[in-house]
Amino acid sequence: MIAFEAVSKVYDNRVTAVDQLSLVLPAASVTVFVGPSGCGKTTSLHMINRLEQPTRGVVRIDGTDVAARDVIDLRRGIGYVLQNAGLFPHQRIFDNIATVPRLLGWSRQQIGARVHELAALVGLAEDNLQRYPHQLSGGQQQRVGVARALAADPPILLMDEPFGAVDPLVRTRLQDELLELQQQLAKTIVFVTHDIDEALRLGDQVAVFQDAGVLAQCGSPRDLLATPANAFVDRFLGPDRALRLLGLIRLADVAVQPDPAATTDVQPDAVPSLAPLRPAQTLRDALDLMLTHRRNAVPCADESGQLRGVITREQIDAALP
Ligand SMILES: Nc1ncnc2c1ncn2[C@@H]1O[C@H](COP(=O)(O)OP(=O)(O)OP(=O)(O)O)[C@@H](O)[C@H]1O
Ligand SMILES: [Mg+2]
Repeated sequence: MIAFEAVSKVYDNRVTAVDQLSLVLPAASVTVFVGPSGCGKTTSLHMINRLEQPTRGVVRIDGTDVAARDVIDLRRGIGYVLQNAGLFPHQRIFDNIATVPRLLGWSRQQIGARVHELAALVGLAEDNLQRYPHQLSGGQQQRVGVARALAADPPILLMDEPFGAVDPLVRTRLQDELLELQQQLAKTIVFVTHDIDEALRLGDQVAVFQDAGVLAQCGSPRDLLATPANAFVDRFLGPDRALRLLGLIRLADVAVQPDPAATTDVQPDAVPSLAPLRPAQTLRDALDLMLTHRRNAVPCADESGQLRGVITREQIDAALP
């Protein structure tokens, strides 16, 4: 677990980059720092691995003040993915990924095995390992950045706008891959972005920073969308809050109504029966189906495709604040 305790950072006795930040980042979960440019996200991140030092307050990892830790030892436990991957341009991909294991003095054999394992883990084809960074696409470079940060299997991963420089499609794919990876690895991840949609997609909790290093709100994506703490957060979240909130609620987590007859209550017989929604779909999908087919209830199946029951209009209403 990482804890910020009343942490402030003032540069040059003038610029307050972080202002009285108190925040707990639970282990094995993803915390996203999001906010406008210059609001102190990178500075906050850097106070975890001591690239910056707090002017006031304390940052702790598992209860210990990071300032009291040996800095080499501290950073060994923290993977760091730099903005735009930040690869070493004159080193082959293999060597980029091998950076930390080499510093740690692993054997050639161990390093080789680990690099190949990581390439597979992040979905990077083997023939890329002998290339140089500029010979890879933006998305491939991001994967290398993640592989390099994971090389020595650190429990903590800091990611500073790692997917900033890729097109939206690739970005969505990288986000999915990160979520999948996190299912397997359960790291304590701190992810920085200025993109609220990315934050809501990836974060178990999302910390919204306001200008001048003030934390406006920290909560789950559902909390933020349901009850923004102030006008700044509301504006930052943008339009369609209700729909996006429904989009976060998976049908697997919704108690369906057992009566299948309800699916046909407002339907003439001529309308073909609907294909049931799947558990991975959301209340937003359910609402869409209701609107499209003019129904007050739509069928929902379990993992095996068996009909579980129906989702009703009342359940949509109840899910909204
Ligand atoms: N080394 C430094 N010396 C002086 N001021 C700095 C330094 N680093 C950052 N700042 C200032 O601190 C504030 C916060 O910067 P920071 O880099 O943490 O913002 P950020 O939220 O990461 O922004 P971005 O989204 O643009 O990356 C800014 O006003 C910035 O100009
Ligand atoms: Mg930054």
